[in-house]
Amino acid sequence: MVKVVCVLYKGGPAAQEESRLLGTTENKLGMEKYMKDNGHTFIVTDDKEGPNSVLHKEIVDADVVITTPFHPGYINAELIDKAPKLKLAITAGVGSDHVDLNKANERKITVAEVTGSNVVSVAEHVVMSILLLVRNYNVGHAQVYRNKEWYVADIAKNAFDLEGLTVGTIGAGRIGFRVLQRLKPFDCKELLYFDYQNLPSDAEKEVGARRVQDLDDFLSQCDVVTINAPLHEGTKGLMNKEKLSKMRKGSWLVNTARGAICVADDVADAVNSGHLRGYAGDVWDKQPAREDHPWRTMQGPGGPSGSSYGNGMVPHYSGTTISAQKRYAEGALEIFDNWINGKIQTPANIIVENGEYASKAYGQGRGK
Ligand code: NAI
Repeated sequence: MVKVVCVLYKGGPAAQEESRLLGTTENKLGMEKYMKDNGHTFIVTDDKEGPNSVLHKEIVDADVVITTPFHPGYINAELIDKAPKLKLAITAGVGSDHVDLNKANERKITVAEVTGSNVVSVAEHVVMSILLLVRNYNVGHAQVYRNKEWYVADIAKNAFDLEGLTVGTIGAGRIGFRVLQRLKPFDCKELLYFDYQNLPSDAEKEVGARRVQDLDDFLSQCDVVTINAPLHEGTKGLMNKEKLSKMRKGSWLVNTARGAICVADDVADAVNSGHLRGYAGDVWDKQPAREDHPWRTMQGPGGPSGSSYGNGMVPHYSGTTISAQKRYAEGALEIFDNWINGKIQTPANIIVENGEYASKAYGQGRGK
């Protein structure tokens, strides 16, 4: 019997209306009965920040922590030091950067995630975000819905077709590849990718994508860049003022990977000045995002004021659709059940184990 602390977002009335919202504090990833039947202590909370939070207080004698990237319990080195019994950190979803992975290695804590559980959910969101920026959807929608106006030219002056544009992904793993697959029928001029790993040659051929090995060169060739790489030392703050300046004037950037891959103020400056025609995504450097975060209010200079022209930001939800929640809830339970019963884990789910990186995705030269 072990103690499990689980950090989820609050569902409120939405969780009462929709029982399939499994990733909420109310619905507890559907794990409550299993934990109770097996005699485990199962603490579920959304209270995660600061020394007086439930997470910080309860983790001190916990064996396992379960978190999601949507409302991340930040399991940093300091917190790990306060949790001497901690042996397993499960991410119900994909992306375990909210856990200090180097510290987890030092302590030989296993970090596992439900690999693949929401990759289609995110890839669809990426394609939607590219289209809403390139086609200037926000301005058109605000015009008819909020302002009750009809001024076609004011929308059309900033609306383009995706056909004929060059789109590139930073990271061509499970999500990046699915984005390329979904973009293929749009007849883009070219699909590019920047990754330290080659796509398998049949996958590269299927989508007709070309790898560009130098990031500056890659950025200068793209009309649209989408970021689909994990957050680690090599990607933190990667898209800063200098890299953004390498992007084409009037290009678009979509980031559904992790907010901290981009420097928030530098992106806001690039959008507000019109160097970027738009930025969209659902991930923020710290979540929930602060009320005065510049990404809430940034707006391109070419659109009507207050229209959110060039701003496609939403809260972190692309990977937590109803369709995805079932998959990551079941996957998280499977990881726990395998661990407690000494069963073999699905290798792709393991990020770090026995003091080593098991995944290649968290930095060049790491993992098997
Ligand atoms: P994956 O592990 O299948 O692919 C990641 C790819 O990024 C790998 O090919 C890796 O080589 C590449 N990469 C790593 N560092 C790089 C760098 N410095 N430059 C270029 N490429 C680099 O992971 P998957 O499933 O595609 O997910 C990617 C990320 O997307 C996750 O780590 C997570 O942060 C984010 N994500 C966001 C979600 C959301 O709801 N917004 C949901 C799921 C994932």
